[in-house]
Amino acid sequence: MCHDSTPSPQSSVDLDLSIHTAFSSLHGGPCCSAAYNTEESGGELGESQMSVQYQAVGWNRQKRIYDAVLVGGVLAYLTLFVGLGAFLYPSATAITLQIRAFGTLALVLLHVTLCIGPLCRLDRRFLPLLYNRRHLGVTMFLVALVHSVLSINQFHARGDVTPLVSLFVSNTRYGSLAQFPFQALGFTALSILFLMAATSHDFWLHNLSPCVWKRIHMMVYVAYALLVAHVVLGALQADRNVALAILLGMGLVLVAALHLLSGAKEWRIDHNLRRAEMNGFVEVCTVDDIPEKHGKVVSLADERVAVFRYDGKISAISNVCRHQNGPLGEGRIIDGCVTCPWHGYQYLPDSGTSPPPFTDKVPTYRTTLIGNRVLVHPCAHPPGTRLEPSFIGQVEIGAPQ
Ligand code: HEM
Ligand code: FES
Repeated sequence: MCHDSTPSPQSSVDLDLSIHTAFSSLHGGPCCSAAYNTEESGGELGESQMSVQYQAVGWNRQKRIYDAVLVGGVLAYLTLFVGLGAFLYPSATAITLQIRAFGTLALVLLHVTLCIGPLCRLDRRFLPLLYNRRHLGVTMFLVALVHSVLSINQFHARGDVTPLVSLFVSNTRYGSLAQFPFQALGFTALSILFLMAATSHDFWLHNLSPCVWKRIHMMVYVAYALLVAHVVLGALQADRNVALAILLGMGLVLVAALHLLSGAKEWRIDHNLRRAEMNGFVEVCTVDDIPEKHGKVVSLADERVAVFRYDGKISAISNVCRHQNGPLGEGRIIDGCVTCPWHGYQYLPDSGTSPPPFTDKVPTYRTTLIGNRVLVHPCAHPPGTRLEPSFIGQVEIGAPQ
């Protein structure tokens, strides 16, 4: 039976609406990765709008919430640390407690900053944490700066040489582990954190080039190593503070473990991508590129293929409608069926067959997911061949199906 001869719900689809919805979603729809990438430009600007001209930081609701939590957390930590410290160690002076509160808080924030990247690579649900990571970094620098200024003022401002000179000349036992001038390590780390905070705005990203910018920001690992040494050779040797030693050790293990795990995951993804490509699969897009219940048209081996995302699944069928060659990939999934934007013919996304009583069929294509990437095999299967869809999230590391 022909679709034209029997009016049915599937032929009464509002054509203009289908076409326009498909287009606006494909081209103007929300894309979280773009939003995360442009955090300092307000998170809402497309790449074409970025320029090397300075742009003031744009605020939105998410940013305000993130920053409010950050500032609230910082104040709560400082208050608790100084309050509890004064209670537990009545002999400690207020300035000592403040130096320690700001120092340990800066180190905690540094750990959080270092963990966010690998956490997001391991599980996309952590992505909101990445959204304002630069504000976190700048806050960490400011907290470390207060700790440094208080320390220099307390230990190096009372002599007859200027404080910064005193920092480097008052103790020059660089050959001794027991009496190493650990303050110099803190100062070097602070200089790196300053460089990172000062160049964190998108203005510098575009002016310095992403490559140089990335290199500067990779120096955070040098700063981290210097700070671990700063604490181990300084406070830990002087105080033998067991709690601080345990926390520092746990932090080190956490940072190293998350980096190793996420590195292993990336390696597996690259390895499986290469393997899938050797099996003939072609990477066509990421899952985020396809809005829910919509398709993306890709060209494979001179054929147009429509890749659909629906109900946590991905399937691919020919882009060519059996009726009058309409572009199926520009249609939507309605009632579980790919619906042609021209006259409403419908096909099941996994088998390419029209729902009964119709008998039209289009070719289908095998898909696989590796991480977040969608791959399609360019060999068309005979019209109506059912192929297992790829399940988003479940087919984490895709063995080509
Ligand atoms: C010019 C730079 C710096 C100087 C002169 C300096 C100086 C000091 C001094 C004198 C102490 C011992 C305080 C005490 O035990 O009472 C200390 C401890 C510490 N510093 Fe620094 N520091 C600097 C930079 C940094 C930076 C950038 C960080 C972290 C981002 C940092 C984190 C710490 C931590 C976690 C401690 C241990 C706190 C404790 O005893 O509980 N320092 N620093
Ligand atoms: S329904 Fe007519 S071309 Fe697809």
